Amino acid sequence: MKKLMAANWKMYKTAADAEKTARELVEATDNLPEDREVMVFPPFTAIAGVVEAFAGNENFIVGGQNCYPADEGAFTGEISPRMLLDLGCRSVLTGHSERRHILGESDEFVGKKTGFALRSGLHTVLCIGETLEEREAGALTDVLSRQLKAGLAELDNGVNQEMFSVAYEPVWAIGTGKTAGPPEILEAHGIVRNILSDLLPKTGKNIRILYGGSVKPANIGEIITLDNVEGVLVGGASLQADSFSQIVLG
Ligand code: PGA
Repeated sequence: MKKLMAANWKMYKTAADAEKTARELVEATDNLPEDREVMVFPPFTAIAGVVEAFAGNENFIVGGQNCYPADEGAFTGEISPRMLLDLGCRSVLTGHSERRHILGESDEFVGKKTGFALRSGLHTVLCIGETLEEREAGALTDVLSRQLKAGLAELDNGVNQEMFSVAYEPVWAIGTGKTAGPPEILEAHGIVRNILSDLLPKTGKNIRILYGGSVKPANIGEIITLDNVEGVLVGGASLQADSFSQIVLG
């Protein structure tokens, strides 16, 4: 399975800026290795231009940063998987820590979104991860297990492994410049792999697990080669085509 190199642009970039960066990225990675796949999550308002910039490039996928678990309805301010598909998105993020901790999304709500997005036909990247407090209290396994159980509540055992990924992002490493070191990543990804194999006996072994949290050109080399790391989810260092292309090719 290809390594999934994903960029989360959060609430950054106008539509024009996003399209420009996307075009620069395609140019800077025209020698994309066979075993790499690029996924970019722009703000909703910038999706159309990024889809345009990636047109004809199978290995460049555009996704939404969030979705609501319904096709349509009276849900002011929300976006449905069907609307994302209509714009040319092929994927979506669910449960990003900023949505859990700033917007108050519960584990159960994240599970509903994850199930609905997958049934709608979007590649879904479920984000999980512990806070510093939880880690210091020795609750790493409990937190990952709780978030995965709730996140996968609506998935069936035979979920298509090509369509579902998990991003492990320790909250204390997101946007802080503090990367989890290889031993911490190995430990957490091993725990995630075991839980996935338990919960999804058919495909859990093959589901891609991405690492996220202060990934940059300087540390991609040591992260991407670790066991059970099949990709990365990058925030800050993905905003410039120059640094993200180094990560994609790193
Ligand atoms: P960061 O963000 O790379 O800026 O730490 C990662 C993320 O939030 O997905």
